[in-house]
Amino acid sequence: MARTPLPAGLSYRGKTALVTGANSGLGYALATLLLRHDISFLILGVRTVEKGESTKARLLQEPTTKARKDAPEIVFYTMDMLSAESVVEFSEQILTQVPKLDIAILNAGIMPFTFTKSSFTENESSYQVNHLSTAMLAVYLLPLLKKSSAPGQPTHLTIIGSALQLSSTFLKKPIPDSISIQEYMNDPKNSSNFNSRYSDSKLLIGMFTRELATRVDPAQVIIHDVDPGILDTDIGRDMPGAFKQAAKAFAWMIAKPPLVGAAVVLHAVGRGKESHGKFIDVEKVKPSVSFKDVEKGKRMTGKNWEETMEIIDRFNPESMKRALE
Ligand SMILES: NC(=O)c1ccc[n+]([C@@H]2O[C@H](COP(=O)([O-])OP(=O)(O)OC[C@H]3O[C@@H](n4cnc5c(N)ncnc54)[C@H](OP(=O)(O)O)[C@@H]3O)[C@@H](O)[C@H]2O)c1
Repeated sequence: MARTPLPAGLSYRGKTALVTGANSGLGYALATLLLRHDISFLILGVRTVEKGESTKARLLQEPTTKARKDAPEIVFYTMDMLSAESVVEFSEQILTQVPKLDIAILNAGIMPFTFTKSSFTENESSYQVNHLSTAMLAVYLLPLLKKSSAPGQPTHLTIIGSALQLSSTFLKKPIPDSISIQEYMNDPKNSSNFNSRYSDSKLLIGMFTRELATRVDPAQVIIHDVDPGILDTDIGRDMPGAFKQAAKAFAWMIAKPPLVGAAVVLHAVGRGKESHGKFIDVEKVKPSVSFKDVEKGKRMTGKNWEETMEIIDRFNPESMKRALE
């Protein structure tokens, strides 16, 4: 499907953007494209100092960056999203060292092939990285995003979601009221295949994003989650040989280069209030994601919000109060 091109003359001059997972795939492409469109201050979220240094060096060597007349400032901060403490530390650094943030793109994510748990939190890895740590970042960064907005100039919080959330089993069969979502996600019996863990974690962050948006004025911060399309990246890096080969063949047939996905995301970032609290499926703004049993879906959405907030506040007390005041 042809993608709508980014507006001619699109310029982020004078703006500050943050991209997590900036060292590879979609994140690196987003950093490249933001630089191509004049971003003045670019913050990279990466896992290690080595990755930060090499990513910054690669970005500065991109012909389009070298061709710029001005010198963009690129900085990086490290964070391991398997660890809640690391997310808190990363956010504290941003909040204390970055005076203004116009665009936050929470892109880092994983699709682990086998059932693994974070050694820091004991939570299943995709639940931790794709949902809990991403939700934590969103909440911790919100006060800075609010402070950085001006009348008629909202800032943007863009979560990289996935259309695979639409195939989550929860839409047909929500988690029963009697079990906590954390307990359910951490039980290997309930997420025996990698596809369901990924889809479920992307639905949970999508549900959380939509709830968060109902509590934030879009005149200040526009919040949404976006599917960038199927991209040829390293997301399937954990797959064993045969799967990886099949995935590569599939990617060769239909996946787009990461820069195409980056343009889709920047297109979403350019959207206004109509996208607030919505899921943007490549270029289609979808009102919501529907549960088969609407009442049960509502209850699970409420439960996901409460539980996630409780976990977030445990690691950074009062953070939600600060985010929503
Ligand atoms: N590829 C697709 O077709 C597709 C489709 C829809 C949505 N998405 C979403 O797009 C986003 C980017 O994925 P991608 O396709 O570009 O895959 P990728 O190349 O594997 O990039 C994933 C990024 O996330 C970072 N990351 C992973 N675990 C992390 C952790 N514990 N702490 C901090 N950073 C971590 C990785 O850093 P390291 O290199 O250090 O691991 C990497 O920079 C993901 O949210 C993915 O779900 C992708």
